[in-house]
Amino acid sequence: MDLLELFFIVLGAAVIVCYGVRLLLFTRMLFPKMWFPLSKSFFTSMGEWAVVTGASEGIGRAYAFALAEQGMDVVILSRTKATLDQVAKEIGASTGQRVKVIATDLMEDVFSEIEDQLRCLNIGVLVNNVGMLPSFIPCKFLECAELDQTITKVINCNVKTMAKMCRIILPAMENRGKGVIVNISSGVASIPFPLYSLYAASKVFVERFSQGLHAEYKDKGIIIQAVTPFGVSTRMADYQKTNIVTLSPEDFVKSSLQYIRAGDKTYGSVCHIVLGWLLQCVPLEILYADSILLSLQNYVKKRRHPPLKVTL
Ligand SMILES: NC(=O)c1ccc[n+]([C@@H]2O[C@H](COP(=O)([O-])OP(=O)(O)OC[C@H]3O[C@@H](n4cnc5c(N)ncnc54)[C@H](OP(=O)(O)O)[C@@H]3O)[C@@H](O)[C@H]2O)c1
Repeated sequence: MDLLELFFIVLGAAVIVCYGVRLLLFTRMLFPKMWFPLSKSFFTSMGEWAVVTGASEGIGRAYAFALAEQGMDVVILSRTKATLDQVAKEIGASTGQRVKVIATDLMEDVFSEIEDQLRCLNIGVLVNNVGMLPSFIPCKFLECAELDQTITKVINCNVKTMAKMCRIILPAMENRGKGVIVNISSGVASIPFPLYSLYAASKVFVERFSQGLHAEYKDKGIIIQAVTPFGVSTRMADYQKTNIVTLSPEDFVKSSLQYIRAGDKTYGSVCHIVLGWLLQCVPLEILYADSILLSLQNYVKKRRHPPLKVTL
């Protein structure tokens, strides 16, 4: 065997090992229960209370319910007191757990009041879920209505709130040497996403911040994870019909909680893992073609404002 032959054999073996390892890591994500098992008391062992922002509906509401079903008392935050009270009643009735309601606008400077209200609680889990789109119809940056206010609102809601809530809750977790922080990002943060530029960039912040924080605090027994869903049928997603890629908030949350020990970032469900992988395989030139972007815009427009049926 000459040297060149040996070189190609070693190279071939290295490629097979490399792709084998990648395949193994990928299959781990398809079977989270097997690879990242959680004990029944996993969440309650982190502390007594879970705090969920943006919890009056959608994904946040589903997290609040799911964590109460795991035996945690929950603090739920959003703007609308009446809806929060209703959710609190439903969680209390179905799980028997205590629910504390904080009605507040997280775009405002409300964090010292929130800190006062949370001070005496033993908080084991924080879900930074609150988030908003700059515009319901995807549009170019300069086409967003009331752009100056929108920039401030999106940054405050999607970025500042998460960092501030971590600042409030992380110190006690560090002292106790345990805790879980889940920060909701978005699948659109996987690539630069035209027509969602401001939103997608705010979600990239969520992702990078979570990953950095996880590396800083994992030795203290704290898990910090970015969750990056694609379609979930909520008000933000115009209550799209559920299907193989658009999940109900309850199904998405049930699935995403199984990935809590799967590292600093997860798509949270098998179908969104596959979607994320596919999205990264599509050449950006194709994705950024004017015709594709226009179709996306028209699709959302039509869904939000279906044409009136004229009956003669
Ligand atoms: N749905 C999806 O397809 C999808 C996909 C990827 C990522 N995400 C992310 O998932 C998270 C939750 O989204 P969702 O679809 O469940 O949204 P949603 O249905 O619009 O619910 C948003 C929740 O946040 C609250 N909220 C909004 N603005 C607030 C503010 N300024 N202060 C306090 N509470 C506020 C809302 O209640 P009030 O209006 O009563 O305040 C509501 O409880 C967001 O971070 C979103 O970016 C969603």
